[in-house]
Amino acid sequence: ATGKVALRVNGRQVELDVDTRTTLLDLLREHLHLTGTKKGCDQGQCGACTVIVDGRRINSCLSLAVMHEGAEVTTIEGLGQPGKLHPMQAAFIKHDGYQCGYCTPGQICSAVAVLDEVRRGIPSHASADLNAKPLLSAAEIRERMSGNICRCGAYSNIVDAITEVGG
Ligand code: FES
Repeated sequence: ATGKVALRVNGRQVELDVDTRTTLLDLLREHLHLTGTKKGCDQGQCGACTVIVDGRRINSCLSLAVMHEGAEVTTIEGLGQPGKLHPMQAAFIKHDGYQCGYCTPGQICSAVAVLDEVRRGIPSHASADLNAKPLLSAAEIRERMSGNICRCGAYSNIVDAITEVGG
């Protein structure tokens, strides 16, 4: 069956007829050609497909597009301004927070959402004194970013990048 879905993607209103089994990931990549969001495992294990929906990060491979009627979706393509990187993108470049780069869009979307989670006071499992500096310890960044796998093992540089923006 097909269904209509209307949502905003990176500030642009889109309305599509899609097979109701279409994931949000496939909607972004196949229908809207926003291929910055990556498909790694397609089963919720790797985080490569992470996007921000109404301010929260989700694995877009696990979520049906039609569930997001009226939602505001932000992908890696929507984070910066034209000609200007988002501070998190700039920090990943500065700290070499990647090697092959495949997981990077998901890592960056996740990292941006992590800092929003902290600002909204959403606790992680790692204990952290949010009033202490740095704002997020390396351990807490690792805990909050644990859903984003990097097969190259760039983790310590990723933590450095996030520390620069959110530390
Ligand atoms: Fe969605 Fe791996 S592609 S978690």
